Amino acid sequence: MKNSFFFSFLFTAILCSFQGNLKAETFQYCLSFRDDPSTSIVVGWSGAEGTVHYGTNDEGTDYAAYPLSHGVDRIGNAHGHNRKFARLSGLTPNTMYYFVIRDNDGDLSQRFKFRTLSDNPNDPVSYVTGGDSRDGFKAFGIYVENCPSGNCLDKRREGNELVAKIKPDFVSFNGDYVMNQITSNTFNEWTQWFQDWQLTISSDGRMYGTMHTQGNHEDNSDMYQLFDVPQEEFYVLDIHGGLIRKYFLNSELNACSNASQLNWLINDFETHTSGGSADPIWKFVQYHIPTLAMGNGYGLVADQMSCWVNLFQQFGVRLVSESHTHITKWTYPCKANSGGTDFVLDEDGIVYIGEGQWGAPHRNLDFTGNNKKPYVRDQGVFDNFFFIQVNQDSTVIRSIKFENVGNVTESTDNELGSDLPNGVTLWEPDNGDRIVLYNKTDEEDELNTIDAKQNKYNVHPNPATDKLTIEFNTELNNAKIEVYSSLGKLCYETEVSGLKTELPLNESCHGGVNYVYIKTKDGRVESHKIVVLK
Ligand SMILES: [Fe+2]
Repeated sequence: MKNSFFFSFLFTAILCSFQGNLKAETFQYCLSFRDDPSTSIVVGWSGAEGTVHYGTNDEGTDYAAYPLSHGVDRIGNAHGHNRKFARLSGLTPNTMYYFVIRDNDGDLSQRFKFRTLSDNPNDPVSYVTGGDSRDGFKAFGIYVENCPSGNCLDKRREGNELVAKIKPDFVSFNGDYVMNQITSNTFNEWTQWFQDWQLTISSDGRMYGTMHTQGNHEDNSDMYQLFDVPQEEFYVLDIHGGLIRKYFLNSELNACSNASQLNWLINDFETHTSGGSADPIWKFVQYHIPTLAMGNGYGLVADQMSCWVNLFQQFGVRLVSESHTHITKWTYPCKANSGGTDFVLDEDGIVYIGEGQWGAPHRNLDFTGNNKKPYVRDQGVFDNFFFIQVNQDSTVIRSIKFENVGNVTESTDNELGSDLPNGVTLWEPDNGDRIVLYNKTDEEDELNTIDAKQNKYNVHPNPATDKLTIEFNTELNNAKIEVYSSLGKLCYETEVSGLKTELPLNESCHGGVNYVYIKTKDGRVESHKIVVLK
């Protein structure tokens, strides 16, 4: 009797599973960008072919009520996965779209939504960037690589849940999604990856467009077949109509000897550094393998240092995102040294962030203790991604730890450039929880403008040694004062009221050029360049 029940149960389970496949509903959804993210997006899924029904009004799952529809443009094939892609175009910038997918049997997905990016560089943007979400290496079913919880995928999922709660404008993923090696079942790994990605969908059905670079665990065409990103091995996307030009380079290609990537990069940099309207406000670069890794045993990639870094410097790149070694670092602005063997501090240099800890097994740091690189602002080993907020004036970089995710409140802000919700755990090293980069052109213009019309506030002495006195021409109420070093490090902040205040120039303020920002309640920002003698 027990056996009869068991076999009946087993037969029913198999039948249900088989019928589920026969019905082949849509599942494993993912949005990606391959073209202008203000007017187009790719809706990707696995399972049955179908049609995306969409519009700017929320019609729930009443597919017939949506004014627009678009079928499958292409099917990507990789590792046994057949991804369906509907390339939506002609969208209105900075607009929330609602959609439902109706498969060819008439089955409906849930109602999803997404916001197109802006075409206006005056609009702010906030995004998540990180990489390395693969599982640890296993031998005979036992993890060989170190995952703190014993299961590397737990942390990956926590990171995905954080995306759903933060509601970034997009996610920029920097390679090494799954193991994808001879020792692993790549079909199952990608199945799990796409299933886990469903955790990035917010409780209101909102999804986030993704951008991608290839790591060393992916095949050459995997990105195109699984996400429908541009087929080229390297590409660039304009964000917010020229606010950011974001380069996606392929570190699997030799930076010097692969002429097609190098020439393309030089041509694009030249075209977009001409002093004309094609110039973006910010240039950011993303690639997988660090040029000079802080992760133990990886060291210098000489071809990238020789053929990329000087170009980045020459053409005004401000931020570079790296991945691959499963540790975390962020640097002060830095440049290549004269021999191309290392980086050195330079206030006009580039900030490098990385190196890929979206759940992947933890590794050790190189260059610790007395050997710590002076241009590395801080480093550590913990699961995280970076949250980047950008507007015309500044770029703010923070690292979000995959901790206490259950305590994070899902953001209720669906507008572009929204801030972090309550409860996120920031990386908070002693020297600050954020890096702020200022738009140098704006800063110079602002200084010139203020110099020309004379400042309202008097900051003295200049040069200063141990303290600054600031006198206001009118009585201020809770004005914010921030002092930044020339490397963009916030070294002092306070709120003041009244006609006069004195600031201590504490030890964390560097000697040399510093910037004092006075921000009043009415939105006025006045900056003063001061020299600190130490
Ligand atoms: Fe890697």
